[in-house]
Amino acid sequence: MFRRNSGIEIKSADQLSVMRQAGLVVARTLDAITKAAVPGVTTGQLDEIARDILADHGATSSFLGYKAHGAVPYPGVICASVNEEVVHGIPGARILRDGDLLSVDFGAIVDGWNGDAAVSILVGDVAPEVAELSRVTEASLWAGLARARPDGRLTDISHAVETVVMESGDFGIVEEYGGHGIGSRMHMEPHILNYGSAGRGPVLRSGMALAIEPMVTLGSPEVGVLADAWTVVTMDGGCAAHWEHTVAVTDEGPWVLTALDDVRL
Ligand code: MF3
Ligand code: CO
Repeated sequence: MFRRNSGIEIKSADQLSVMRQAGLVVARTLDAITKAAVPGVTTGQLDEIARDILADHGATSSFLGYKAHGAVPYPGVICASVNEEVVHGIPGARILRDGDLLSVDFGAIVDGWNGDAAVSILVGDVAPEVAELSRVTEASLWAGLARARPDGRLTDISHAVETVVMESGDFGIVEEYGGHGIGSRMHMEPHILNYGSAGRGPVLRSGMALAIEPMVTLGSPEVGVLADAWTVVTMDGGCAAHWEHTVAVTDEGPWVLTALDDVRL
């Protein structure tokens, strides 16, 4: 039987090794930012940390100057989204406070290959339901990553993410944004929904790389974009969490390229 080429970029083993280098820069940066994100620090200072680490590694930013929707190039190297900000918050003068949930998204390019990941960070003492929101979002990400296997289908990932979120309590899944293919560009085919039935979409093949990124809310999942043209917020003002990894589909199983340690699921 013939199968239509999915149009998803297939990486060689050597290209995946370079993506792992980019992923390590991302992992180290998010680790440093997680340690630095304490009450009193500004999101702009965290952006500076990320710029320094990029320079130390001879890497460049996937985000800086990125034009997605409209004519406003993205001004930071990180996205810093606090509390009701879901994703794409612009780093700046905002001071982190005790109890904030800070989501940091970061992408790096090494030799033309991209890595992209995000973490939600508990700043100081955070309300238990907010900590739980972040924990569930991260768990849903790992369930999705585990489905990045050859001969699986794309929406096996979507369904695994949704299942963890829905079985963990009364949370919302943001539907307007999702994950994406990644490699020689940050955003590539396919788009990856964080919900839906399994067994649909392209067949996953060894050499594909995917960025899986659930965005989960405490209240309603409805979102809007602020006048800065970037910051995505919940419409009801409730907290949102965002976790992301870049994963390679390999014959040895999912390889989490943006993890600090060498993780193969
Ligand atoms: N990691 C983000 C995503 O995949 C990218 C942030 S958008 C940018 O959605 F403009 F900052 F690059
Ligand atoms: Co992404």
